[in-house]
Amino acid sequence: MADDPRHPFLHGLSKHRGSPPTVIVIFGASGDLTARKLIPAIYNLAHDGLLPADFYLIGFGRKPIPDEEFQRIAADAIKEFSRREMSPDVWARLAPRTLYVSGGYDEPEAYAKLSQRINGLEKDIGQPLQSLFYISTPPTVFAPIIQNLGGSGLASRHLRQPQQSKVIIEKPFGRDLASAQALNQELTTVFAEEQVFRIDHYLGKETVQDLLVQRFANSIFEPLWNRNYIDHVQITVAEEVGVGSRAGYYEQSGCLRDMIQNHTMQLLALTAMEPPVSFDPQSLRDEKVKLLKAIQPVRLDGDHPDVARAQYAAGMVAGKAVPGYLTEKDIAPQSATESYAAIRLSINNWRWQGVPFYLRSGKRLARRVSEIAIRFKRAPGNLFAELNTAPNTLAFQIQPDEGLSLILNAKVPGLETRTQPVKMNFRYATTFGSNTPEAYERLVLDAMIGDGTLFIRGDETERSWQLITPILEHWAAQGRTGMDSYVAGSWGPASADALLAANGHAWREP
Ligand code: BG6
Repeated sequence: MADDPRHPFLHGLSKHRGSPPTVIVIFGASGDLTARKLIPAIYNLAHDGLLPADFYLIGFGRKPIPDEEFQRIAADAIKEFSRREMSPDVWARLAPRTLYVSGGYDEPEAYAKLSQRINGLEKDIGQPLQSLFYISTPPTVFAPIIQNLGGSGLASRHLRQPQQSKVIIEKPFGRDLASAQALNQELTTVFAEEQVFRIDHYLGKETVQDLLVQRFANSIFEPLWNRNYIDHVQITVAEEVGVGSRAGYYEQSGCLRDMIQNHTMQLLALTAMEPPVSFDPQSLRDEKVKLLKAIQPVRLDGDHPDVARAQYAAGMVAGKAVPGYLTEKDIAPQSATESYAAIRLSINNWRWQGVPFYLRSGKRLARRVSEIAIRFKRAPGNLFAELNTAPNTLAFQIQPDEGLSLILNAKVPGLETRTQPVKMNFRYATTFGSNTPEAYERLVLDAMIGDGTLFIRGDETERSWQLITPILEHWAAQGRTGMDSYVAGSWGPASADALLAANGHAWREP
């Protein structure tokens, strides 16, 4: 089964070792993501022997720099950000294969130059190179890059095997439904859907994949995984960091676009979807889309809206005083961009009717933690009604301290009957050690072998935007009216507490 070609998600690594000669072209070579994540991921794949013998990395950017200079930049990025120390032997093999092409993203000549460079490499090795075009630029140049990949013939280099040209595209995938549809249209004019790999890096995280294993490789959960036993679900993606140096991007985005539309929605889809018939890319994504389609439109106002938004005020995070959102560098003093968002979603299907799903995310919260908490219904009857019993909670901790915990009630030893909630805890690091691959290693590798299971399909991203866009439009129309605030270092605003209190619930402190 491990190497069954019908189940790419389950492939053994031997399959990766067989990837064809490959060139990865990174558009946005001087960007932050390239240095922090992409180059270190490629380096770690080289370290593990998971790149094909004929592998090349070409950085593409506006700034004219020689190959040697790009190799130096790449080496610095590996030294600073790789999870493993740089090994001189591994780098000696990868460095001469790390190249650079400069040009404007909208200049056809630059793509002709890129094409020539790839043709030259193919001539040297006497074989065709599968080409992965990784778009990691600001979204304003997504369209010119896609059009030029089409116009220059780079997107269709392999006439007999068109899937040997692929495009990987980073977020933000649109800023609302209409722009996401336009971008999909742009992409699919040039590439077939099977050639398109839309990234949500949360899907590359080990613990997110483990969610699938926990749900579908253990038989004990399925009978409980429904409205008969589950009271509600809380999905939290909390960050300690503030807007930092990304004000230019963040002011145009805000938490709903930046985190809720993509990362938390994906966590929700994987938690709530039906079991896929197999782990081939279509079956899994079909189930996610089905689930997203069952989510009901949210109430935007009235006494009990389903949404809350807020900005952080000055406070203390990790023992350090930090400024409020409105006084951060390059943030407009009257900004209406939310640094925190929470929503309550209802899923109208057989399994989840009546079970609220609460999603929240924010910057400058008390602690960096991402988790999915399944809160079960209380035990029926009142045998222990006077005692301190807690509802059972199963929590998948995505990061940090990756693991899984279950809260149960236990009898405190002694002659009188007292109960106490206790926690059963599984920690990855304790059981498996701590050197887990980074999300981008898995995703780059999967794209190289053409496995789209952990990438977002076009219809999936559009459905998610369809759900979020009315909220964005409502907030845009409201401006700052209704914008709540929370003290940096706290767990968020009162309006988000009210969202749960309306149903007799409270946020759990992860
Ligand atoms: C990115 C967002 O997608 O995810 C950032 O743009 C956020 O604002 C980041 O900080 C969080 O990712 P992680 O992997 O650190 O949880």
